[in-house]
Amino acid sequence: MPPDRSIFLIGYRGTGKTTIAQELAERFGCAWADSDDIVQTRAGKPVADIFADEGERFFRDLEQAVVAELAAGPTQVVALGGGAVLREASQRAIDGMHVVWLKATPEVIAERLSADAASASLRPSLTGAGLTEEIEQVLTQRTPIYQQCATLEVDTEGRTPQAIAAEILQQL
Ligand code: S3P
Repeated sequence: MPPDRSIFLIGYRGTGKTTIAQELAERFGCAWADSDDIVQTRAGKPVADIFADEGERFFRDLEQAVVAELAAGPTQVVALGGGAVLREASQRAIDGMHVVWLKATPEVIAERLSADAASASLRPSLTGAGLTEEIEQVLTQRTPIYQQCATLEVDTEGRTPQAIAAEILQQL
């Protein structure tokens, strides 16, 4: 059975949002979407190129429009980009949905991102700092926002996507 409302997965890069969105959609037998994929399709280029060519603000404008459409659209599981809840309009748009915050410590996120070299090149730096420093800085800034938006918080460390999806299913 599909969920009663859309499920938005939020959290930092490397917390498994896309993998878990797919896993949940399979269990619910419903569709899933990834906000970065939609933004990239619309822009006709990868996120890193949008940041490099048009700048972060342009990316965030596109992202905000996509979040609004997804929130108003059919019930499904949505993996949001790590910064997609920064804008207040987007926070309001997903208010009333299931919003699941996937959590991991900066150390674990740094390990996961460094291990995934192919996708590392697609992820634009957000602050220009080194990886661990950037994660610590950005997480400090975002943690209160993730916390405020979340209707459910799930620890992802040392757990498989299947175990995480099972917990979410049980808690919703
Ligand atoms: C970003 C996270 C990325 C992508 C963009 C900005 C962020 O999404 O939207 O590079 O600000 O944290 P993922 O969390 O899916 O990697």
